[in-house]
Amino acid sequence: MSRYKIKFMPMDVTVEADASAPEPAHDGRPGSILAIAAAHGLNIEHACGGVCACSTCHVIVREGMDSLHAAEDKEEDALDNAPGLTLDSRLACQAVADGSVDLVVEVPSWNRNEVSEEH
Ligand code: FES
Repeated sequence: MSRYKIKFMPMDVTVEADASAPEPAHDGRPGSILAIAAAHGLNIEHACGGVCACSTCHVIVREGMDSLHAAEDKEEDALDNAPGLTLDSRLACQAVADGSVDLVVEVPSWNRNEVSEEH
């Protein structure tokens, strides 16, 4: 399966993505959670512009973590500075799914005021 869905919480917005045709990214990696959110008008904070130098794009992957490529050292280092770090935390600008399963991604509460739907 290369087509998959990402459900963003708590906005309860589900979008479709295609791992075989990664979403082009203005900020972050092509096909990243951040890129897919942005393409659908969902703004996740990304203060450093998606270059893995902050942790404002911190999200918690509630379902589908195994379909994301493993975090590299620089992502782990940036995440160490993220408030509310969990075992299921990833940086949205770096995490790219392989499309094998659907994802449920939670935007942490301290970022929620920064999230807007721009449909
Ligand atoms: S936007 Fe800065 S680390 Fe993701």
